[in-house]
Amino acid sequence: MAFETINVDVDDHIALIRLNRPDALNALNTQLLKELCQALEEADANEKVRCIIVTGSDKAFAAGADIKEMSGMGFGDVFTINLFADANDRITKIRKPIIAAVSGYALGGGCELAMACDFIIAADTAKFGQPEINLGVIAGLGGTQRLTRFVGKSKSMDMNLTGRFMTAEEAERSGLVSRVVPAKKLIEEATNVAQKIAEKSMMTVMAAKEAVNRSYETTLSEGLLFERRVFHSMFATEDQKEGMTAFLEKRQAQFRDK
Ligand code: CAA
Repeated sequence: MAFETINVDVDDHIALIRLNRPDALNALNTQLLKELCQALEEADANEKVRCIIVTGSDKAFAAGADIKEMSGMGFGDVFTINLFADANDRITKIRKPIIAAVSGYALGGGCELAMACDFIIAADTAKFGQPEINLGVIAGLGGTQRLTRFVGKSKSMDMNLTGRFMTAEEAERSGLVSRVVPAKKLIEEATNVAQKIAEKSMMTVMAAKEAVNRSYETTLSEGLLFERRVFHSMFATEDQKEGMTAFLEKRQAQFRDK
C-alpha cells in the first residue's frame, strides 16, 4: 500500500520512516498513526531490516495528536474507539530496535511517540513538551507514564502541569534523550547509530531490547531473573561462540543470527 502521510525508505538494513504532514507539523491523525504502525510492522517483518529510524521534518518531529480531528469528539467517541490504545499496543510490540530522530517540536503525542521508540537522538533544535493541559485534557499516549520514568516525578509534573517545553540540552541532561547532535547532521548521526546496531546479532539485539523493556514492567528481582535466564540462553547460540571467539582471535565478529 502506498502511504500518504509518511515516507518509508529501506536502505542498507535500515528502514527510515519519515512523518510527512508538513501542513499540520506532522500532527498524528488516525491515518498517520495507522500508516506508521503498518510501516513499523512491515519493517519488523522485513528480513533485510535490522534497525528502524522514525523521524519528522526539521521544524517538527510531530506537534502532537491532531487537535482538529479530536476537537469535535465526545467521551463516548474516544472511549468507544479507545483512542491511541491501538497505536500504543502496536508500537510496543515491534521487536526490532526503533530510534526516534527528533528535530524541532516533539509535543504531546509527538513527545509520546518519541518515548515509545527505544531511544531518542535529538537535534539541538528539538523541543519536547506535554502541552495537553492547555487544551483542557491530559496526555493520552504515555506522557504521564513514560515521561515520569524518563525524567522523574518532579520534572514530569512540571512538564505535564505547566505545559512548558524542554530544550534538547535539558532533555539530554534529564535522561529523556540519549544524545544531542547538530540539526544538520541528525539523520546522518542516527543512521550511523542504526548501522552500528545493524552489525550486531539481531537475535541478541532483540533479546537486549526485550530485557531493557522488561525493567519497566516488573520488580528488580524478577527483572534480574529474566535477564539472567535470557543471558544464559544466549550460550546456546552460534553468535555467542562467534562473538567470544572473534574477541580472542582479535578480529571482527561475523554474526549470522543463529
Ligand atoms: N494538531 C493539528 N494541527 C496542528 C497541530 C496539532 N497538534 N499543531 C500544529 N498544527 C497546525 C496548525 O493548526 C497550523 O495549521 P494552519 O496553518 O492550517 O493554521 C500549522 O500546523 C502550523 O502551526 P502553527 O501556525 O501553530 O505554527 P507555529 O510555528 O506558530 O507554532 C507550535 C508551532 C508551537 C508547535 C504550535 O503549532 C502548537 O502549539 N501546536 C499544538 C501543540 C499541542 O498542543 N500538542 C498536543 C496535542 S494533544 C495530544 O497530543 C494528546 C495526546 O497526548 C496524544
